[in-house]
Amino acid sequence: MASLVPTLSCTLSRLNLVAELSHSQHTLKLFRALSSTLTPHKSLHHPTPFKSLFSSTSSSSNLVSKDNNLVVLGIETSCDDTAAAVVRGDGEILSQVVSSQADLLARYGGVAPKMAEEAHSQVIDQVVQDALDKANLTEADLSAVAVTIGPGLSLCLRVGVQKARKIAAIYQLPIVGVHHMEAHALVARLCDRDLQFPFMALLISGGHNILVLARDLGHYLQLGTTIDDAIGEAYDKSAKWLGLDLRRSGGPAIEELARQGDAQSVKFSVPMKQHKDCNFSYAGLKTQVKLAIEAKNIDAAIPYSSANSEDQRHRADIAASFQRVAVLHLEERCERAIQWALEIEPSIKHLVVSGGVASNQYVRARLHEVVARNSLQLVCPPPSLCTDNGVMIAWTGIENFRLGRFDPPPPAIEPDGCQLDLRPRWPLGEEYGRGRSIARSMRTARIHPSLTALTQASQYKES
Ligand code: KG4
Ligand code: ZN
Repeated sequence: MASLVPTLSCTLSRLNLVAELSHSQHTLKLFRALSSTLTPHKSLHHPTPFKSLFSSTSSSSNLVSKDNNLVVLGIETSCDDTAAAVVRGDGEILSQVVSSQADLLARYGGVAPKMAEEAHSQVIDQVVQDALDKANLTEADLSAVAVTIGPGLSLCLRVGVQKARKIAAIYQLPIVGVHHMEAHALVARLCDRDLQFPFMALLISGGHNILVLARDLGHYLQLGTTIDDAIGEAYDKSAKWLGLDLRRSGGPAIEELARQGDAQSVKFSVPMKQHKDCNFSYAGLKTQVKLAIEAKNIDAAIPYSSANSEDQRHRADIAASFQRVAVLHLEERCERAIQWALEIEPSIKHLVVSGGVASNQYVRARLHEVVARNSLQLVCPPPSLCTDNGVMIAWTGIENFRLGRFDPPPPAIEPDGCQLDLRPRWPLGEEYGRGRSIARSMRTARIHPSLTALTQASQYKES
């Protein structure tokens, strides 16, 4: 335990802590140490606040204890939305608040880290307060605080982590550091209580495009990833170049316009046809869209609403054709990934599709077809839980907390020079051998070992 002290005093190190906590004596020690620091007020609300430490007898997260008294605050600031939510152990969402930076996005055509950080800093206190007020609770009623520690923009992650640590220090709450993409996947287990590990997940957002086999909490096998851009980035750039209103972000704008267009009119080619793996590429499709826009002399400076009807028709045709091919690429990769996954884990029954782009109705309908052809079920969280939100962070906090994967409260005064454990580039899983061929080298891109490698290392230490 001693070796953990300097780390725990300055960083969110839930994964380091797991190995230490798993030993029952250490668990007991930690429990006693934490109980002695609990305020009387708190213990009135939670007579056995760390019961879940003792009730989880297996590392399998399909056998989680049902501690419905848990109440967790989730905080998310990894990119351009400031979000907070309060969720109960039984999955009841007590509140959900999102402050969007859509106006900034619309003005600058993308996320500028420094401006995004300022925007998070301006609203974080209010967003968290609103989440608590809507839940009719105060910080003292919470069992733990969960916060995104990566992947994402360092400057933005810092705002959420500092807020979470402040609350956890004042109210002596355990803290759970959450992987943003794991949260996108796990929120599906809040929505569908029958969803058990192992399952497959396609996670599609602005910065990520990953296909994983979710074997257990913290254990992901990466079947495919993007070698350049994610699908959400392609939606956002296409919307910008088509002069669409970006105030709700590019994805919804393209989805809406595509309904009026002819999806067969522009012959875009489907990316990576010759690569028989599950990786993705959207940079080439973006270029194809740009060329098609130039060929039709579309001027993005003229908003769609002010364009003449012929120009509007061209824009709608490009949007529809882009969407058809972008999603066809998803369909082809999912079809292959399902075959691979069933060879590895024949018991798989579900494909989870989550992340901002999963709120798209066309994406859902097409993937539903793929899944049905393969006798699986599609699990898609509702749109408000697909785009970035605090609920998914709180829920992932609950799942990890139940397995004892959390850090104790931070010290009231952080030591000088304290380095926060932020993980801007943090892979979710380890790469599956057959998927490795042309994917960008994760070794050069990664800063932190994957969540899965850390979970496995801690379990190895345990045994
Ligand atoms: O998961 P998310 O909210 O944030 C990230 O983690 O990146 O995903 C944001 C992405 C953006 O690229 C946005 O344009 C896209 O999700 N998106 C959509 C839709 N709603 C959001 N893309 C296509 N259709 C939509 N309806
Ligand atoms: Zn996201």
